[in-house]
Amino acid sequence: MRIIRAKDYADVSRKAGNIIASVVTLKPDCVLGLATGSSPIGTYQVLIKKYENGELDFSRVKTVNLDEYVGLSKDHDQSYAYFMRTNLFDHVNIDQANCNIPSGLTDDPEAECGNYDKLIASLGGTDLQLLGMGPNGHIGFNEPDEVFTPGTHCVKLADSTIDANARFFATRDDVPRQAYTMGIWGIMQAKKVLLVANGKNKAEAIRAAVTGPIDPRVPASILQLHPDCTIVADEEALSLL
Ligand code: GLP
Repeated sequence: MRIIRAKDYADVSRKAGNIIASVVTLKPDCVLGLATGSSPIGTYQVLIKKYENGELDFSRVKTVNLDEYVGLSKDHDQSYAYFMRTNLFDHVNIDQANCNIPSGLTDDPEAECGNYDKLIASLGGTDLQLLGMGPNGHIGFNEPDEVFTPGTHCVKLADSTIDANARFFATRDDVPRQAYTMGIWGIMQAKKVLLVANGKNKAEAIRAAVTGPIDPRVPASILQLHPDCTIVADEEALSLL
């Protein structure tokens, strides 16, 4: 694991944006695994700026997102499909037909999840997977559990995740209780993994993921086994290392 120390959130975003930009520059038809949550928003803004400056071309880039809430349509303003359009896709020259996110409204969850893994494989895997991390160490929506689940699957969200994400909804009751998430195989097959983290509330999860045992109760700890994993985090998130 490579840990890059950043001064603050802007610096995390700049460094992470530069890493993703280098992947797109070296391989214009790359497959990017993308993440939602507040952590990557600044990274997406850096990518948008680079596109606007003529430094980056997304026309041949394909994407696969980590997860989606069960029951939210792609037009719901808290769906991850909506998040990706408003925070990145609508602002760069990506072909949105090449942007993939599990459907929150599928009536056949098993097929949706199985097909998502087949899709990742058919794209030749991801060149870079961007990750945020929940305060409990979750990646995508792989919540702390007794085992690591490899494939895309439906998860029951942890109470602490519902609490953490309630800030985006009108009330806590509006937060969906389940989500579809890429599993640990989907994340670990990426050629590069890039995790961004900032703030004190991520410090304990970073400590456990980086220095603790590899344990499904801290899902991000599996990243210790990835051959090319970079964490870009600010001083606060790294304060317990
Ligand atoms: C959600 C997403 C995760 C994300 C996490 C952290 O639970 N499913 O992919 O990493 O939020 O969010 P934030 O970056 O807002 O702390």
